[in-house]
Amino acid sequence: MDALEALTTRKSAAMLVDPAPGDQELEQIFTAAVRAPDHGCIRPWRFIVFRGKMRKELGQILGDALKKKDPEASDEAYEKELNKPFRAPLVIAVIAKVSEETKIPPIEQIISAGAAAQNIMIAAHALGFAGIWRTGPPSFDEYVRSRLGAVGKDHIVGFIYLGTAKTVPAMPEVPLSDHVMEWKAVSG
Ligand SMILES: Cc1cc2nc3c(=O)[nH]c(=O)nc-3n(C[C@H](O)[C@H](O)[C@H](O)COP(=O)(O)O)c2cc1C
Repeated sequence: MDALEALTTRKSAAMLVDPAPGDQELEQIFTAAVRAPDHGCIRPWRFIVFRGKMRKELGQILGDALKKKDPEASDEAYEKELNKPFRAPLVIAVIAKVSEETKIPPIEQIISAGAAAQNIMIAAHALGFAGIWRTGPPSFDEYVRSRLGAVGKDHIVGFIYLGTAKTVPAMPEVPLSDHVMEWKAVSG
């Protein structure tokens, strides 16, 4: 698949099953991730891979975070958090490691980490896999942040769920004219 085809045919898939990218494919995916544009070349990202049994540890972190925030949370809500990482065979937490010892503004570092996340999505798609980028309350939760090593202005950009799409997702049209305009010179 060439680059334009990958960019124009990617579609998120919520239902993901095996196979997920293996070691060799992950190396290709992360090689693409670190090619994201990066003002100041400070590489403001960290990728944490959870696969196999390690997804249980991520689920526990999410479940514990819910209980810490809401000790009255229902068993159902708790179970839901525990099971979230099992919605795909592999989950990548993408964290913007934001340096405050640089003139590059934090927002630009977070955008770079987001671009790296998008490169992960596109590279995985180009390799024949599917995925979905998710955030939700855990991305902003102090306990989750601390367990994943996010400190200070670091930001959890998202959790990228990867695997093989269980069903082929529909691809809605996005009319370009709704989003693109040509700047018209103002006379006078
Ligand atoms: C930063 C970010 C966070 C997102 N968080 C969620 C989420 O928590 N749950 C969800 O279902 N979709 C989330 N999405 C949206 C999906 O990843 C996806 O983009 C959306 O369902 C549209 O599908 P498409 O990518 O095929 O156009 C998020 C997207 C982005 C960019």
